[in-house]
Amino acid sequence: MNIRCENSSDYLAIATINQLAFGRDNEAQLIAAIRMSEFSIPELALVAEVDHVVVGHILFSYINLVDEVTFKVISLAPIAVHPDFQKQGIGTQLVQAGLAKLATRKEVMVIVLGDPQFYTRFGFEPSVKYDIASPFPVPEDVFMVKPLPGYQAKYRGNVIYPPAFNQV
Ligand SMILES: CC(C)(COP(=O)(O)OP(=O)(O)OC[C@H]1O[C@@H](n2cnc3c(N)ncnc32)[C@H](O)[C@@H]1OP(=O)(O)O)[C@@H](O)C(=O)NCCC(=O)NCCS
Repeated sequence: MNIRCENSSDYLAIATINQLAFGRDNEAQLIAAIRMSEFSIPELALVAEVDHVVVGHILFSYINLVDEVTFKVISLAPIAVHPDFQKQGIGTQLVQAGLAKLATRKEVMVIVLGDPQFYTRFGFEPSVKYDIASPFPVPEDVFMVKPLPGYQAKYRGNVIYPPAFNQV
């Protein structure tokens, strides 16, 4: 298995994997909308390949954390592995590869909405622990934050997702 940055020749495979993994089109549309937006971080759009075939994808992008001032923080969304390749550790390696890249940048935190059973193993914790409020009416444990080396306590407030996320 190999993990690398996505390029435009991967876009169709990435859309298909997301449609299959989620059983709907929303996430593929979200990816396309983020790519075209000012919140995109091309270095942090990664694919996993097995035998040179793309079987997984993860996207990190900027979102806003709003307190008295607005901070740019990182969102992890979406992640998908082709159904035929799930539960083989590919999703775990995609998250770890993204977090390793993020650790080399001056980023403060990653935010994810998802299953705590999957994300807590990477150090994600409920956002309320960091005084960070979800914009969604979801249980506290599914809206999670992982602080990065640039984290300071001043990074708190309300998370505001960019318009691209209206797709989901
Ligand atoms: C979530 C997903 C990306 C994980 O990828 P994967 O390659 O299957 O993950 P791994 O093989 O690294 O599995 C890691 C662990 O997460 C668990 N896991 C996998 N998918 C999970 C899910 N949807 N919910 C909870 N746990 C999950 C696995 O059982 C495994 O647990 P274990 O290590 O205790 O055995 C993949 O299952 C997927 O594409 N799901 C559909 C799309 C989706 O739900 N994306 C996430 C939205 S937050």
